Amino acid sequence: MINLDLFENTEGGDRSNSAEESPGSAMRRLIDLLNRWEHAYYVLDAPEVPDSEYDKVYQSLQQLENSHPELIQSDSPTQRVGGKPADGFEQVKHRMPMLSLGNAFEDSDVIAFDRRVKELADLPADTTIAYAVDPKFDGLAISIHYINGMFQQAITRGDGTVGEDVSANVKTIRSLPLKLKGRAIPAHLEIRGEIFMTKRDFLQMNQRQAELGLKVFANPRNAAAGTIRQLDPKVAASRPLRFYCYGAALEREQLRELKSQSAMMKWLANMGLPVSELSRTAVGAQGLLAFYRAVGESRDNLPFEIDGVVYKVDSFDLQDQLGYVAKAPRFAIAHKFPPDEVLSRLLNIEVQVGRTGSITPVAKLEPVKVGGVVVSSATLHNLDEIQRKDLRVGDQVLVRRAGDVIPEVLPFPGNQRSASSIVFVMPSHCPICNSLVRQEEGEAAFRCTGGLVCKAQLTQAIIHFAHRRAIDIDGLGSKLVELLVEKEWVKTPADLFRLQFDALVQLERMGEKSARNLLESIEKAKQTTFGRFLFGLGIRHVGEATARDLAAHFKNIDRLMNATVEELLEVNDVGPVVADSIRQFFDETSNQQVVRELISLGISWPNEEGQAADESHPFFGKTFVLTGTLSQYSRDEAGELIVARGGKVTGSVSKKTDYLLAGEAAGSKLDKATVLGITVLDESTFQGML
Ligand code: IVH
Repeated sequence: MINLDLFENTEGGDRSNSAEESPGSAMRRLIDLLNRWEHAYYVLDAPEVPDSEYDKVYQSLQQLENSHPELIQSDSPTQRVGGKPADGFEQVKHRMPMLSLGNAFEDSDVIAFDRRVKELADLPADTTIAYAVDPKFDGLAISIHYINGMFQQAITRGDGTVGEDVSANVKTIRSLPLKLKGRAIPAHLEIRGEIFMTKRDFLQMNQRQAELGLKVFANPRNAAAGTIRQLDPKVAASRPLRFYCYGAALEREQLRELKSQSAMMKWLANMGLPVSELSRTAVGAQGLLAFYRAVGESRDNLPFEIDGVVYKVDSFDLQDQLGYVAKAPRFAIAHKFPPDEVLSRLLNIEVQVGRTGSITPVAKLEPVKVGGVVVSSATLHNLDEIQRKDLRVGDQVLVRRAGDVIPEVLPFPGNQRSASSIVFVMPSHCPICNSLVRQEEGEAAFRCTGGLVCKAQLTQAIIHFAHRRAIDIDGLGSKLVELLVEKEWVKTPADLFRLQFDALVQLERMGEKSARNLLESIEKAKQTTFGRFLFGLGIRHVGEATARDLAAHFKNIDRLMNATVEELLEVNDVGPVVADSIRQFFDETSNQQVVRELISLGISWPNEEGQAADESHPFFGKTFVLTGTLSQYSRDEAGELIVARGGKVTGSVSKKTDYLLAGEAAGSKLDKATVLGITVLDESTFQGML
């Protein structure tokens, strides 16, 4: 914001009252001032004055215009909303057709595009082509005409040849200048760009619409398109439309002078037109792909939606040589992101019983491809969530997948709910074991009270026990566990160690060889570590790190099983909830028995006693984060080596991290560690320190 005193002295509204200034020139001054502020606010995103100040000056201008209507100027901000609702939009033929772009989806399409550019232009294959690159804004295309620097007409794309005159609505977009800045402005300038809404403005607007009982829109693009087609410009003025300019339809002469797309974009920005700050130049196919990735990574954090990036050969000369096919230029292409939100239908809501008995509602969906994968079911988390989103079986829903996040089901604002839609009710009894389902106090989750009697819970408990990061039984997949539980051969984890070859070979799809391999893996898994064993027991709230901490602290199973809550609280990161849960687990006689049985069946681990880590070791007391791929160890193995030397391994980089062990293809954790100034070890340094 500028210093207001300074502003009052130099260009303030007060002077409009001064006797020497004519109404016309006062008007001009106020218009220029307001337009500058609008540009700073909407285009530069750097407001110069508070809104109240803007409003004050706006009112002064309005008063002046009321008393001298004959002097009103067309670029006055008061003229953005004007005129009566139209009966319809006039059809206008474009001076130059509005084309579309070819699409690329894969890296290989981009490499082929770059190669084709060189082939068509007869350039050697090793030439590196310079490109102007932009985000692909997900809005609607518009052509805007300026005559002598003044806004004159805005036309939708239409069929590319004929569009509709939506000038009155486009004029209300405050990031669009009504008057261009600078001296050498062409007598007639036609610019091209995209009208859109920011994600935040869209949500706010939709909420307001809903509160007023008005139409809500499915996404920002629909909202922007719907708004531009409103006949009453007052409606458009009340909605938060934005605009970015991405090009201009220029004459040959102008193209020759400007030479390149990137120079043209600078020229347009200098005239006060809003141009995205994400636009760049990039060289060669690899440069294009790097831009695609960088923009893709920031996509979720951008204030507006984009559906890809656009590559344009930078040189106008080269563009001219390449020319056009049918309706698209050969010198440009859109590289699309996989869609991250797709319309589907909620076919059913089923419930799943988890390892700790939690009953989770799961959406069964009409299969849709989103974010590059087919999704046909997705967790709905809990009953609260379903009620909050007001989802019913039969509804149209949006399925969203951002990055590698699990798919999310969202209500579709345009859903036409049918009378036969069904409200979800939580079952009162477990669908697997028929035990009572209870909602624990203060928890959103419902739980089956069946414990290991419940085959669903037992199956999950065994899968967890056998997991690679727990006891690690290679070859014991979830399908096989289901079968073993179903046949009641396995009722506790200990039963795994009682399985016999003769029984196993009778199982469907189990040959002699795989039966022998499985028994071998089970035998091998008996040699484990205390931490893995504890983690495998599946005590609620005891994750891998806590299990390791407990093992290091108590060193022996009897001591842990007899520990009081107070003693448990002494362990690193163990709070009251975790301590209670551990105590409850070991108070259960059946759990005590399983532990005893496992030990008597031969599960063992190196004695942790007397293995106190050497305090002088460089890893002692240090916190590590591991990232990327190591060549000599798996990450688990490296973690065990660190823990054995008195160090600690955590999942995410923070100020508390001492070392980041970075293997090949380390990603964002490495960036974060670098920013925080954390020591980064490569694999060979790590080995040396070991
Ligand atoms: S350049 C010859 N640049 O994508 C067409 N278009 O298929 C030149 N779009 O509807 C278009 N962002 O409105 C260009 N940075 C960008 C764009 C962009 C979005 C839209 C455009 C058109 C479609 C092209």
